Amino acid sequence: MHTMNNSWFALSLLFLCFSLKTYVSFGVDTISANQTLSGDETIVSAGGDFVLGFFKPGKPSNYYLGMWYGKVSVQNVVWVANRENPFSDKYSSVLRISDGNLVLFNEAQEPVWSTNLTSTSASSLEAVLLDEGNLVLRELSGNSSTSLWESFDHPTHTWIPGMRMRLDKRTNVSQRLISWKNIEDPAPGLFSLELDPNGSNSYFILWNGSRSHRYWSSGPWNENQKLFDDVPEMRAN
Ligand SMILES: *[C@@H]1O[C@H](CO)[C@@H](O)[C@H](O)[C@H]1NC(C)=O
Ligand SMILES: *[C@@H]1O[C@H](CO)[C@@H](O)[C@H](O)[C@H]1NC(C)=O
Ligand SMILES: *[C@@H]1O[C@H](CO)[C@@H](O)[C@H](O)[C@H]1NC(C)=O
Ligand SMILES: *[C@@H]1O[C@H](CO)[C@@H](O)[C@H](O)[C@H]1NC(C)=O
Ligand SMILES: *[C@@H]1O[C@H](CO)[C@@H](O)[C@H](O)[C@H]1NC(C)=O
Ligand SMILES: *[C@@H]1O[C@H](CO)[C@@H](O)[C@H](O)[C@H]1NC(C)=O
Repeated sequence: MHTMNNSWFALSLLFLCFSLKTYVSFGVDTISANQTLSGDETIVSAGGDFVLGFFKPGKPSNYYLGMWYGKVSVQNVVWVANRENPFSDKYSSVLRISDGNLVLFNEAQEPVWSTNLTSTSASSLEAVLLDEGNLVLRELSGNSSTSLWESFDHPTHTWIPGMRMRLDKRTNVSQRLISWKNIEDPAPGLFSLELDPNGSNSYFILWNGSRSHRYWSSGPWNENQKLFDDVPEMRAN
């Protein structure tokens, strides 16, 4: 009985160590100037709600940088950086701050994705993953920080609360959510969701990016009833 207790104790201790190790190595929400993210490493938002790291949705050799929920056991990707430019070796590919941007380099150390900012001082930048699911590149000065780039301004295929889907009224270009090509390929697929460029406060789903192939409409926003006119189901909640 004594031995039994001891082995249980040892087992629990071992388990605890593993849990602690996992917790500690996952306990970072920031990539600062001299840090990198590579291989199986991840950063996790402070409250554990979102995770950023490399993932492989299909083909063994196609890896992507993405964000998924931290408290949902099934990996459910909500944002993808290099949608059209997968890399093949996750251990030699790296995400780091480079020349004032957050840049993802593939195995040949070629950039496959970047925040693409042109004018930053590049002095003290860091990227932080916030609990709302927003990856923010910010500039630190003293004890304050200025946001330079946010993934909330660059939705890919999933809208999460707080994300901004804009219509640029000068160019009539509206930001779109675009479906994946298929379940194994996050490259932009055939369906997209955008705000009506005519300003009717409707959302449209377009087929193959064409405004003349409107596949679905939410109907205009109805401020009195707090729903879209053609989505009466919204009343339920
Ligand atoms: C980054 O590393 C360089 C060289 O190792 C060092 O001089 C610099 O102070 C470091 N910067 C930060 C922000 O840690
Ligand atoms: C960054 O800019 C380059 C050149 O203008 C462009 O080809 C690329 O698609 C941009 N990347 C992102 C992530 O916007
Ligand atoms: C930031 O720093 C300034 C002085 O450098 C100080 O007066 C101020 O209280 C600090 N603010 C915070 C939130 O720590
Ligand atoms: C925008 O509105 C004009 C006039 O109200 C209409 O003719 C046109 O078809 C609309 N365009 C779209 C994309 O709904
Ligand atoms: C944007 O689209 C609307 C409706 O189709 C049109 O009235 C307006 O002239 C367009 N603006 C530009 C800058 O193309
Ligand atoms: C989608 O549109 C492009 C042109 O914009 C065309 O080349 C392509 O064949 C279309 N795809 C489908 C499935 O129709």
